[in-house]
Amino acid sequence: MTQANSKKFRVKNYGCQMNVYDGERMSEMLVDQGMSGASDGEEADLVVLNTCHIREKAAEKVYSDIGRLRKKDGSSPMIAVAGCVAQAEGKEISRRAPSVNIVVGPQAYHRLPELIDTAKSGKKALDTDMPTASKFDVLPTRKKQARPSAFLTVQEGCDKFCTYCVVPYTRGAEISRPWSDLVDEAKALVDGGVKEITLLGQNVNAWTGEDRKGASQGLDGLIRALDKIGGLERIRYTTSHPNDMTDALINAHGEIPKLMPYLHLPVQSGSNSILKAMNRSHSRDSYLDVLRRVREARPDIALSGDFIVGFPGETEADFEDTLSIIRETEYSQAYSFKYSPRPGTPAATMDNQLSREVMDERLQRLQALLNEQQHDFNKQLVGRKTDILLERVGKLEGQFVGKTPWLTSVHIVAPNLSIGDMVSVDIESAGPNSLAGQLSERIAA
Ligand code: SAH
Ligand code: SF4
Ligand code: F3S
Repeated sequence: MTQANSKKFRVKNYGCQMNVYDGERMSEMLVDQGMSGASDGEEADLVVLNTCHIREKAAEKVYSDIGRLRKKDGSSPMIAVAGCVAQAEGKEISRRAPSVNIVVGPQAYHRLPELIDTAKSGKKALDTDMPTASKFDVLPTRKKQARPSAFLTVQEGCDKFCTYCVVPYTRGAEISRPWSDLVDEAKALVDGGVKEITLLGQNVNAWTGEDRKGASQGLDGLIRALDKIGGLERIRYTTSHPNDMTDALINAHGEIPKLMPYLHLPVQSGSNSILKAMNRSHSRDSYLDVLRRVREARPDIALSGDFIVGFPGETEADFEDTLSIIRETEYSQAYSFKYSPRPGTPAATMDNQLSREVMDERLQRLQALLNEQQHDFNKQLVGRKTDILLERVGKLEGQFVGKTPWLTSVHIVAPNLSIGDMVSVDIESAGPNSLAGQLSERIAA
């Protein structure tokens, strides 16, 4: 345990939800060390930049942000670079940005207190180990949560090696956290006021483990165990790989009421030759077949995905295949990106890299189609009654924003409500990104 202090810290997250989770665990650990979170506008003595390396833009942003970190007296706060840029660039970071004091990778952040001590003595502190002992064993137990919806990382790393992707290098090999740790952490979150848990992993549906009786379980088994926790109302999971969608997990969507009707299943491209060059190990048809079976199990399921446009060698016909898989699927919402060559990945040195103009033009067409589908999805909810979990206050007086089971945001204005309430609403109108509704009744206090 390092010396107690009254210093303030701030954690800034970039990248995926797993970074949000890691950021929360780091914050809880710093609080355990006697520090406290800086409020908005308050000066921090320690700034943790929890970085993302997935695309060049995300990775470069951290350097401009470091340049802006100054205290009012002109001095620099203690700066820790955590996350995937830390893992990928290591020592290089303090060479490029000498004001950085600490570099700590995603598998080593439980050692942050010792690294802070090293930095206090004026030395640069670096830890990008991927130790076999899990950081989760030494992190403090979960605290009371500020929000009703929480993340829970159940699986980390990736063994799939898609040719464009840095994750297998920054997060390491696939590991699944043990069953009992996860059930205990979920219970602690619910005891801390949480009503919805989203299970996280770079390939969350590759999670495997043994239950308390020693029987082998997949993600569906873990979800069934969490389903039994009283007070937990909703369960979600993300991000899944098409090849790890087992029959048991697909069927779980039709059988577990707390499992929400929403599936984020990235396909990246609709062209078989591009999927092959990406080393995705699934085809257009095998992906569509998974979706068909998921829809059979849960007809109202909302589907989401990720798309990369402009992968090396992508022809106009390949791109048309991506548009057509989108038309065939009808997504409720989705994420799309221009291909970004990443150092050390096989795709970065492939022939036929596309020009920025071609990528921009294709991304625009793809996003126009996805936006139209998202608006259509929202419109078909108008006139329906549904439950929403209130997650935050809105911009207007007395306004709250909640989420439907399908993960769409709904704005309502109603008196005497609180964040964390589950209420029934009548959906009255739909915009491209959110819905508006009227309270019909309160479901649970
Ligand atoms: N494990 C998940 C996604 C992890 S990364 C999966 O396999 O689906 C999140 C998304 O970022 C990916 O789905 C992909 O669409 C995008 N992405 C990853 N590397 C990229 C790159 N080099 N350029 C552009 N987008 C990329
Ligand atoms: Fe990256 Fe592919 Fe692994 Fe997803 S499955 S994290 S895209 S290598
Ligand atoms: Fe980014 Fe690392 Fe997540 S690269 S997307 S923060 S796993």
